[in-house]
Amino acid sequence: MCGIVGYIGQKEANGILIDGLKRMEYRGYDSAGIAVLDKGSIFSLKRVGKVMELAKAQTKFHHHGPIGIGHTRWATHGNVSERNAHPHLSDGNRFAVVHNGIIENYLQIKAFLTEKNYRFTSDTDTETLANLIDYHYQKAPYLSFAEIVRKTLLHIEGTYGIAVMSKIFADEIVVARKSSPLLIGVGEGENIIASDAAAVARYTRCVVYLNDGEIASVRSDNFSITTLHENAVDVIRHELDWEIRDMDLEGYPHYMLKEIVEQPFVIENAMRGRFTADGCSAKFGGISLTPQELRTVDRLLFCACGSAYHACLAGKYLIEKYARIPVDVEYASEFRYRNAPLQRNTLVFVVSQSGETIDTLAALHEAKRRGYTVLGITNVVGSTIARATDAGIYQHAGLEMGVASTKAFASQITILSMLALLLARIHDMDAIAGLQYVQALKSLPAITNEILKLSDPIRMIAEKYYECERFLFLGRQAMYPIALEGALKLKEIAYVHAEAFPTAEMKHGPIALISDETVCLFIATQNELLDKTMNNIQEVKARGGKVIAIVNNDCIAWEVFCDEVLTIPEVHPGINPIVSVIPLQFFAYYIGILRGCDVDRPRNLAKSVTVE
Ligand code: AGP
Ligand code: GLU
Repeated sequence: MCGIVGYIGQKEANGILIDGLKRMEYRGYDSAGIAVLDKGSIFSLKRVGKVMELAKAQTKFHHHGPIGIGHTRWATHGNVSERNAHPHLSDGNRFAVVHNGIIENYLQIKAFLTEKNYRFTSDTDTETLANLIDYHYQKAPYLSFAEIVRKTLLHIEGTYGIAVMSKIFADEIVVARKSSPLLIGVGEGENIIASDAAAVARYTRCVVYLNDGEIASVRSDNFSITTLHENAVDVIRHELDWEIRDMDLEGYPHYMLKEIVEQPFVIENAMRGRFTADGCSAKFGGISLTPQELRTVDRLLFCACGSAYHACLAGKYLIEKYARIPVDVEYASEFRYRNAPLQRNTLVFVVSQSGETIDTLAALHEAKRRGYTVLGITNVVGSTIARATDAGIYQHAGLEMGVASTKAFASQITILSMLALLLARIHDMDAIAGLQYVQALKSLPAITNEILKLSDPIRMIAEKYYECERFLFLGRQAMYPIALEGALKLKEIAYVHAEAFPTAEMKHGPIALISDETVCLFIATQNELLDKTMNNIQEVKARGGKVIAIVNNDCIAWEVFCDEVLTIPEVHPGINPIVSVIPLQFFAYYIGILRGCDVDRPRNLAKSVTVE
């Protein structure tokens, strides 16, 4: 889930390891540690809590060397403690391992090794890996380091990204992956391995991503990769596509705020070069299907998790409205086990900011196994999902550091709205309607810039309601997914119970929750259903609930019936979800801040969820 970093070169490893761990802090974690090789022995240092604690402790850690590994842990097996933090050393301290993922057969391995007199000092699954590597070394000390790790991994069930160092093989780090990302940052006279490009970007822009089932032996001036079954691998070097400044706060107090504010630019990036020359449609270089092939698609299936799922749901409303193609949206975690009946001409999309979410990846594999073409929408170039799909669309939103997705969400709906336009133009939409749609999309950066000016009024509303414990988010049609996203943001960032419903559903049950302690946030930006929404607002007021309404016209009734009104510009329905979500992101941000929450690193969450 969290972070792996490793350094091998000419410099002191400690500082580079700690810097790498800091760069990956945004992913969420509970403890951190490093190990370095100093005068032929491995020394480790671990701390519970922030990397800052580890950095402080490091000033009194007098072991240094040009080779080391580091880790931020998101505990799966064993409580959060120094004892369970990584790196884990093998009994006898010959090997040190950092690991992301879960070793599913660790109990059997532990029993086997205990019988062979191996001692264990942690409750983790990872420590069995360190000892099993040592066991294979003892059995065949003449083998190469990579060969020993390879033999070990053949006995491992589960998922892993690992980096292993050894005092026996003092000029090498061995890394391997199965369903958990790992890459080599290729430097000059040095190589940095990591689970996230953020950890290597300061040192090199050239990265090589490992594929599942690959193992690499990394030295200071070279590296070699093979598969676990000893097949040769074509090494592809990628250039990192985002800017180092994406990792900096640039004066903002939090990444979340910075990323909300970046949205006009991010939306522009999502659209750049993606309109047809006649100005009436969208085009995506990454989608390899011709209009003729797209025409034969009878149904679309989107699989995603969390915010990306909400983006897909908004996309469903737009694609069905404009292109008249039926769309299913499934939680990736459900799809992978459900044996869903699919039609022959279904086109599958997986959507994932990180491109590493294991549930989404599994849904992708399931759809491919069943013979479907799978396209991806991802933000991270070279990510596992980006590489596993048949083709796809990059978001170009830049690195998203806040654990709660904001700019990546806006860019996903922008792309899905453009997809709705593209498909609509292939089907029934005429050129004039296409032109209006394109103009609306092109106006998005300016309109979202206007909406950013609502930051202060939203903060003032947040100041009034931040102590409330119950929030309902209500929206209709394409605003329903936006309501879901607003509620998710509030849960994630402010740890407040928030739920979302299609507005008219409220009276079928959730209305029982309404009291003077309930805040209802209506996203009332759909003019065709305003009378109905107004009725629902009255129902809330009649029961003493508080109403905050996001509206896009100056109808007098809003001021009369609502406690708070936020007016945003009235826009083309194809871009309405994109502009409507921004006030909700601000709202969650300010409530989180006022409640004293760590908005960039909310408790229990990780940026990309690479375990089931
Ligand atoms: C978003 O705020 C969340 N932290 C989370 O729901 C996220 O959207 C989900 O885990 C999917 O991530 P992905 O887009 O990287 O696949
Ligand atoms: N399963 C390992 C542990 O609990 C690794 C967790 C992680 O991915 O950080 O220590």
